[in-house]
Amino acid sequence: MYRTHTCDELRMENIGQEVTLSGWLQASRDFGGMTFIDLRDRYGITQLVFNMEDDQDLCAQARKLGREFVLRISGSVRERSNKNPNRSTGNVEIVVTEMEVLNASKTPPFTIADETDGGEDLRMKYRYLDLRRTPVQQNIIFRSKLALETRKYLSDQNFVEVETPFLIKSTPEGARDFVVPSRMNTGQFYALPQSPQTFKQILMVAGMDRYFQIVKCFRDEDLRADRQPEFTQIDCEMAFVTQEDILNTFEGLTKHLFKHTLDVELGDFPRMSYDEAMLRYGSDKPDLRFGMEFVELNDVAKEKGFSVFDNSELVVGICAEGQAESYSNKDIKKLTEWMQRPQIGAKGLVYVKVGADGIKSSVGKFFSEEQLQVWVEKFGAKPGDLLLVLSGEIDKTRKQLGELRLEMGRRMDLMKDGDFKPLWVLDFPLLEWDEDSNRFHAMHHPFTAPKKEDVDRMLNGDHETMKNLRADAYDLVLNGSEIGGGSIRIHDRDLQSRNFDLLGFTKEEAEAQFGFLMGAFEYGAPPHGGIAFGFDRLCAVMNGQSSIRDFIAFPKNNQGRDMMIDAPAPVAEEQLVELGIDLVKEVIE
Ligand code: AMO
Repeated sequence: MYRTHTCDELRMENIGQEVTLSGWLQASRDFGGMTFIDLRDRYGITQLVFNMEDDQDLCAQARKLGREFVLRISGSVRERSNKNPNRSTGNVEIVVTEMEVLNASKTPPFTIADETDGGEDLRMKYRYLDLRRTPVQQNIIFRSKLALETRKYLSDQNFVEVETPFLIKSTPEGARDFVVPSRMNTGQFYALPQSPQTFKQILMVAGMDRYFQIVKCFRDEDLRADRQPEFTQIDCEMAFVTQEDILNTFEGLTKHLFKHTLDVELGDFPRMSYDEAMLRYGSDKPDLRFGMEFVELNDVAKEKGFSVFDNSELVVGICAEGQAESYSNKDIKKLTEWMQRPQIGAKGLVYVKVGADGIKSSVGKFFSEEQLQVWVEKFGAKPGDLLLVLSGEIDKTRKQLGELRLEMGRRMDLMKDGDFKPLWVLDFPLLEWDEDSNRFHAMHHPFTAPKKEDVDRMLNGDHETMKNLRADAYDLVLNGSEIGGGSIRIHDRDLQSRNFDLLGFTKEEAEAQFGFLMGAFEYGAPPHGGIAFGFDRLCAVMNGQSSIRDFIAFPKNNQGRDMMIDAPAPVAEEQLVELGIDLVKEVIE
């Protein structure tokens, strides 16, 4: 028998019992006559004692063991003289009478403790060691619980879990596809799904009514803390529903998950249109844990003789409460440089410091104190507040100020852990004009339906009209992170075909890529819609973290590499020949 208890089970009531435990050596302390070992497993840590007086050989053996050796021990439970209140088993210890070394271990390349000294790549290379650390293990266990609660909630709501294929043709979600060569169809490729979008719609045509899947998706895009090339979605679709039905169902799911994993009760989620979110926060995923809303100054800042403002479409700012004193001229200069980095691209930054004894501003030369006092009133600012103002083209300026708002929120420590602020963002534009490629892109994806009242305009309107079409498309935002997105879909062949036209597909291209879907629409497609949650992101945000890596058992690094198995890697020439890839190369050349 390997164990009678786990390393987290023994308490005062077990005193006097003979027990057997197995686990890893976390730490050992040698006091000459006595050796203490902390034995660890997934559940916790238990202290072992080896006494020279009781058994010299055993004690000598224990003294030689290194970190991460795998042990099985037997002994009796006794009360500890100096108790450890920070550990669940801290009142007891085991006086060891028998020990077997189940396996030795090399010295690990980093400390296996809550706080580790291992760098990111090293931890990924030795992921099995990193996964032994309690915080990482807890994340993976949290993830498992979240998946289980998702299944419970959705199956109670009559959703059916259906698996869809991984070897498919590309689905256009806006990223590049990972492709897989087909041996039996030389020169042809499958694509790994960016999402099961078209399959879940087909399942609605098939009468499945309510579908879900906790599913891997693959996107060959640039990686960031909240993006992995393979990630997981809670993917859902429902037939005979309005947007309202979907919002209610998935607000319900989110509340259920918070309640049953974190014991947090979320109130009803506020809703905001895309336009309003951009106007008030300069972002379609505003973090509502703090205010600092935008105040537009066009009416009081333009045509006062300051040419920078006069030549701008928009003058807009935020008020950083109580920050006037904290920002010296040098700090403001640094903040301005931060805003001017290419990632943000602001031209400059204007400040106004509201003091008890007057107003100081970088545009004091152009605006009188009375004029600036009008700004202050517009912001509702008090003495001690710092106003930060940007100007330029409308969309760009809002986005830049949105970044500044987040940065100030971080600096002022306004995003508190344990504070959860969900938000539905609604009424996204259907299409987005792209200046570079000179064509429309689908803001969500090409299967999203325009709002009912916009269908006519979409079918008959001119180019400019298309820029103003709105969709029944929605995002679930949580603490500034886009957790999920979805839409009501087009279920009519002609409207879908019109959408492909607008997106620049020729009839032939649309037919070749999506003929199967449009064909299915001709056999009684019900009205339908759905949503997908980013499962890894949800795990991270629920735990107050921004990186999704530590919620994925085997993640990739920023170069898309799996450091443990060292993938991607070249394959043998024969394999290329067998797959016909060498031929493809020849054809291209
Ligand atoms: P969308 O592309 O918005 O919608 O994706 C849904 C959610 O998936 C998460 N997500 C990611 N998470 C980690 N790494 C990535 N690379 C990544 N990309 C996206 C986000 C996002 O909100 N088929 C549609 C859904 C639908 O219309 O029903 C879709 O995939 O949290």
